[in-house]
Amino acid sequence: MVRKVPLQELELSIDDWTVPSQLQPLISEASRRVADFSQKRPDPRSGFVPCGFETVARALQLIQVQQLATGRSFCEWGSGFGVVASVAALMGFDAMGIEIDEQLVEQARRLADDFSVPVDFFQGSFVPPGGEYVAERANGDFFWLESDSDDTYEELGLGPDDFDLIFAYPWPEEETVIDVLFEKFAAHGALLLTYSQFDSVRLRRKISSRSMVDG
Ligand SMILES: C[S@@+](CC[C@H](N)C(=O)[O-])C[C@H]1O[C@@H](n2cnc3c(N)ncnc32)[C@H](O)[C@@H]1O
Repeated sequence: MVRKVPLQELELSIDDWTVPSQLQPLISEASRRVADFSQKRPDPRSGFVPCGFETVARALQLIQVQQLATGRSFCEWGSGFGVVASVAALMGFDAMGIEIDEQLVEQARRLADDFSVPVDFFQGSFVPPGGEYVAERANGDFFWLESDSDDTYEELGLGPDDFDLIFAYPWPEEETVIDVLFEKFAAHGALLLTYSQFDSVRLRRKISSRSMVDG
């Protein structure tokens, strides 16, 4: 019997990894700017919640050193201040971020410029056309995911299946949405790195639905 196993969990033990020292100034400055920004937008519904930059940086380092990605193309879905995409770029990925909030795109571009990071940020939705019905499943009192799609990918001349590694920080109610969007639209072999609010990271690979045979 053929069992459908679209996302394969990969072990991600980041405890033995440290953040490369050359990334520390970027991370420290980003944390300072995020705190400043959040003070000006204190309502969590309109505010901004960043991931644990150091935790994600350690995960990216592990992925790079162990060559877990099938290529160098990286996208941060909902990139906020763009710190993860910037760190990925400094680690050798061809990195970009897609962010719906114009002010955050501006902040991400400014931070990257100030640290001369070769990374691009695009304003728009990472939800591809045809994925809106998946995104609308997000349900809860508090969530950040905008379910609308737009023509971001068309403008980029790229699709979600052009990335070897996608990072997202979904709210708990939205984890499934990110998983399903990734399962449906990412390339086979691509990696999904996610951060959860308890400062943990998870890494999964999209594998062929027929690549695991049971019995
Ligand atoms: C929890 S924050 C994480 C930000 C950043 N990735 C980080 O880890 O620090 C989620 C971000 O996704 C953005 N967002 C929500 N829905 C989006 C969509 N459909 N397309 C692009 N960005 C979106 C929000 O504006 C917010 O900046």
